Amino acid sequence: MKQTKIQILPSLLAADVGRLADEVRRAGTAGADALHVDIMDAHFVPNLSFGPTVVSMAHAEVTLPMNVHLMMDNPENYAERFIKAGAHTLLIHAEIAGDRRALLRRIRGWGARAGITLNPETPLTAMDGLLEEVDEVLCMTVHPGYGGQSFIAEVLPKIAAARAAISASDRAVDLSVDGGITIETAAAAARAGANLLIAGTSLFGKSDMAAAVRAMRHVCEAAWQTSNV
Ligand code: DX5
Ligand code: ZN
Repeated sequence: MKQTKIQILPSLLAADVGRLADEVRRAGTAGADALHVDIMDAHFVPNLSFGPTVVSMAHAEVTLPMNVHLMMDNPENYAERFIKAGAHTLLIHAEIAGDRRALLRRIRGWGARAGITLNPETPLTAMDGLLEEVDEVLCMTVHPGYGGQSFIAEVLPKIAAARAAISASDRAVDLSVDGGITIETAAAAARAGANLLIAGTSLFGKSDMAAAVRAMRHVCEAAWQTSNV
């Protein structure tokens, strides 16, 4: 049996905002491995979502690690605040202007895991030279900005190429996918080499989130066994 490190991360964007603390606790008791929190600045993406206060609220409610996805043009202005708020992993986007290497190093220097995110059309070469600076590579499987979109299957070859690059590097880097992740698309992504599955609608949208997390983990572990990873 190949070793698996499949992790299931509910995305808070799909939670009932009127009951946000309850929803965070629901993810905590559902057997999730971490909580994904989307931060949108209305510039990098055409939407607004949460800020550092939501990360600190969630961090106070559950022991789950906070996986914080910065969809921001200037993440350097906020990175430290999100880490102080409790971010365990801070993901920036590869498409931003500015010195990404320096920021990834600062994120790690502040004690968090650092991650780099690629939009669906962004090639893997956009993170050339950055793999050694990160603990997680996130391949977006929708165009970021909104929940509830459909998985873009054309990203699968890039996921496989990212996994191959990670394996060749001999470093323990997680490979995550985000957007349109359902039980079916999660299995396809895991078969391509993803080990962190981020899902909003298909987990928070279920009345029994624990069953949905269990089912997703089960299909992904099976898919991982049949993959070339
Ligand atoms: C999209 C966000 C995702 C979002 C996914 O920009 O980055 O984390 O919550 O939502 P679903 O799983 O509904 O596609
Ligand atoms: Zn996200």
